[in-house]
Amino acid sequence: MPKPIYVLSGPNLNLLGTREPEIYGHQTLDDVRGLCEARAKSFGFEIVFRQSNHEGELVDWIQEAREKAAAVVLNPAGYGHTSVAILDALKMLAIPVIECHLSNPAARESFRRKTYVSLAATGVVSGFGAKSYELAVEAAAGLAR
Ligand code: DQA
Repeated sequence: MPKPIYVLSGPNLNLLGTREPEIYGHQTLDDVRGLCEARAKSFGFEIVFRQSNHEGELVDWIQEAREKAAAVVLNPAGYGHTSVAILDALKMLAIPVIECHLSNPAARESFRRKTYVSLAATGVVSGFGAKSYELAVEAAAGLAR
């Protein structure tokens, strides 16, 4: 069995489904987990699916992924636009990193146009709602082979 794909989500994504549904959709984070599990399974991978509102916890999980993951899918949420600490943790990974966003931040407010995470990402999937996660898992599985 290969190492799992880590699927990590940042702050406020625990409220997916009720949080600004006109932007982020009606599916909950649990729905997203189900989609990711199924997509990963179809490529022979398991996932570790976690969400945190805390920057340091995300840093800890990214560090953990150095040894334990085949690839990382990360929706950094608001921290993508602010966190040098998350960027620094990602730069220590020797595995594929797929940055993922439900919305298309490039088409929103100007402060969302820059993400630090992109500097360390192998690729970015954004703008497809919950499907962004599925596409990101598929990309991760392809690169992790
Ligand atoms: C987000 C986009 C970010 O700008 C925002 O802060 C989020 C969610 C997305 O998935 O579209 O919390 O990462």
